[in-house]
Amino acid sequence: MNPIVLVTGASRGIGYATAETFHSKGWDVLTLSRHPFDSDVIWTDDLTTHIQFDLETPQYLDDAIAEIKHVLAGRPLNALVNNAGISPKLPNGDRIGVVAADLDFWQSIFNVNVFSPALLTRGLHSELKAAQGSVVNITSIVVQRVHPFAGSPYATSKAALGGLTREMAAEFARDGIRVNAVSPGEIDTPILSIKTQEIIDSHVPMKRLGTPYEVADAVYYLCSPDSSYITGSEVLVNGGQHL
Ligand SMILES: NC(=O)c1ccc[n+]([C@@H]2O[C@H](COP(=O)([O-])OP(=O)(O)OC[C@H]3O[C@@H](n4cnc5c(N)ncnc54)[C@H](OP(=O)(O)O)[C@@H]3O)[C@@H](O)[C@H]2O)c1
Repeated sequence: MNPIVLVTGASRGIGYATAETFHSKGWDVLTLSRHPFDSDVIWTDDLTTHIQFDLETPQYLDDAIAEIKHVLAGRPLNALVNNAGISPKLPNGDRIGVVAADLDFWQSIFNVNVFSPALLTRGLHSELKAAQGSVVNITSIVVQRVHPFAGSPYATSKAALGGLTREMAAEFARDGIRVNAVSPGEIDTPILSIKTQEIIDSHVPMKRLGTPYEVADAVYYLCSPDSSYITGSEVLVNGGQHL
């Protein structure tokens, strides 16, 4: 039987590239996001492998977890990629700082970017343990440095996700589950600010955007046997932006 991965936020961007990459390596792919998929998605003709759920409402996550377990039907889960994330900006592309962010704003970002990854991993712990599987959390360059367009709540949530990666890696090692993070820089997806070119020019030594597939390859590596002694690590995929 093929190994199987669950990728959150696979309807576009990094998640889409990740799902496609795993599929191309012979994995079965489950996906989770708010909207239905277009029928031309290449890695499945069975739409029951897509779970429609809004991670902004983690209080209902048990329903989605039950649906995932139903689809798995007793199969171990070889990998979980906590990729879905939100980074709201002002209409002109500027960042949202502490003064502009109220409690509801903080709450919605933490629900999607931190609490849902924690609770989803918790809910699927038995299936991951049965597979001796891997978890990969998608963090961000904003963990390494203040970003001109990504806001403070987003940056804080990604730092928390980095902390969650460390905590889960330590807690789950005894269960044979590895937990790592991939930290993208400026990757060519719809999440980018309209002013991203300014950062490429001033802060990215390689002077170009990354592709979603360059991130997906790092995610795949961390879920493959090639990384069998790596846990609690964060791989930076950013063209040198952290330097
Ligand atoms: N692109 C970059 O330069 C960059 C840099 C650093 C970090 N990252 C991180 O990489 C990850 C992927 O980013 P991306 O650029 O590929 O983003 P994207 O193009 O905006 O895609 C986000 C994905 O998350 C899903 N999603 C958003 N809100 C959701 C919710 N409430 N519930 C369930 N699914 C939700 C979306 O699907 P639906 O709309 O169908 O829900 C979509 O599939 C994120 O965690 C992001 O923070 C990206």
